[in-house]
Amino acid sequence: MSEKLIIFDTTLRDGEQSPGASMTRDEKVRIAKALERLRVDVIEAGFPAASPGDFEGVQAVARTIRDSVVCGLARALDRDIDQAGLALKEAAQSRIHTFIATSPIHMQLKLRMSPEEVIAHAVKAVKRARQYTDNVEFSPEDAGRSEEDFLCRILEAVIEAGATTLNIPDTVGYSLPEPFGHTIRRLRERIPNADKAIFSVHCHNDLGLAVANSLSAVINGARQVECTINGLGERAGNAALEEVVMAVTTRQDVFPCHTTIDTREIVACSKLVSNITGFPVQPNKAIVGANAFAHESGIHQDGVLKHRETYEIMRAEDVGWSANRMVLGKHSGRNAFKTRMHELGIDFTSEAELNDAFARFKELADKKHDIFDEDLQALITDAAGSSEEEGTKLVALKVCSETGEVPMARVTVRLDQEEMTATATGGGAVDASFKAIEAVLKTDAQLLLYSVNSITTGTDAQGEVTVRLEKGGRIVNGQGADTDIVIASAKAYLNAVNKLLLPTTRMHPQVTGKV
Ligand code: KIV
Ligand code: ZN
Repeated sequence: MSEKLIIFDTTLRDGEQSPGASMTRDEKVRIAKALERLRVDVIEAGFPAASPGDFEGVQAVARTIRDSVVCGLARALDRDIDQAGLALKEAAQSRIHTFIATSPIHMQLKLRMSPEEVIAHAVKAVKRARQYTDNVEFSPEDAGRSEEDFLCRILEAVIEAGATTLNIPDTVGYSLPEPFGHTIRRLRERIPNADKAIFSVHCHNDLGLAVANSLSAVINGARQVECTINGLGERAGNAALEEVVMAVTTRQDVFPCHTTIDTREIVACSKLVSNITGFPVQPNKAIVGANAFAHESGIHQDGVLKHRETYEIMRAEDVGWSANRMVLGKHSGRNAFKTRMHELGIDFTSEAELNDAFARFKELADKKHDIFDEDLQALITDAAGSSEEEGTKLVALKVCSETGEVPMARVTVRLDQEEMTATATGGGAVDASFKAIEAVLKTDAQLLLYSVNSITTGTDAQGEVTVRLEKGGRIVNGQGADTDIVIASAKAYLNAVNKLLLPTTRMHPQVTGKV
């Protein structure tokens, strides 16, 4: 029997550090439920000390998830560890992940600590974390640029202090597959008590090598990989979960280990993360891209039809592509709707909430014949993004677009119970709508990104729009969905504005804190 490879998902923590990808508590819970259905072993739910909102997000995930271990990140600081311990109190299975930087550049310029002081902090942090849980992970941040002798010393000390997982992060995505794999092998060989802990890796994708580095580490003895859905994460992202899992599963001739991931849930989970964060998946992305299993050339199609193994190394249905089936329609009743939502991990807290969602479903079913799981997920994301208590709401939108004429939009927006209307012209219907919204709200935000994707296929499909705005250095993503993409665009713009209006005093985990 081959050994188990632990899949540690950090979409809700490192993934959330992507610009604009921050998630609300309820969005985190929806994604965590999807990760649980995927049978992820460990879910890193966030960094509880970052803000009260982050604390609540981790706490809500800990209260909900039963089958996966729920993990909270903490710098090697007493307060961070106590916050993580508290947020995870109600978890069925909890883990605290504590870290401190170990590369010369980070120790000197960021921490301003001597190597001895760094070891002392790490040991103290692990011992404190053990007071909350016996499942403690330690990461020497920027291990990819740390000295191997120093790594051996600090890792031996934290195992002695009670760390059960040692995670080796390539924080800045600097490593190359072969040397990185050899580092993992040598650490395992050189650290006297290495057999008392599981070795893990956490690779960033700055050189496009996050998955390759992670797999090389697995070949050299790592038994946990930290990864994210769609490769989301700080800067160029983290290793993509779907790629790591499918590489290990497909190449069992090479890997001495296996995962227990339910691969048929991969595509649904990828779509949900994309829908909630507003980070579209590129069509040629491995495993979860729309073209990943599409065979365009005639020769390929002929080969696949005769014998699928000629050009296919994996089956689309094994990663969940065939699950894209019609689930509900115009005549579906309230019970069928409620049941399907429950299967998707969405439960309503009151009859009023269910009635409201069902009314929106009926409205959509009037415009669109077949309703897919993706439509149902978008229905919930869209409603959450335009709830009245969150600020602005689209009341009405009228656009005139005609060949040879300048497009015009008239928009009515509600803000704090007050309705305001403005008219503007623009280069197109979407541009005119955004200008009309700006004429009303005067946010002065910079539009950094505008993207439209169709949620399912067909001309009646809902368009899913992402708008990224920046103001005063703060970046937010707004999402909107509708069968009319101009309306979806206006909703997405207002959703982004609502996020900009929310106060934030969030702390980034990789900045130094007071000891
Ligand atoms: O990239 C990194 O080093 C991290 C640590 C907090 C593990 O995300
Ligand atoms: Zn990271």
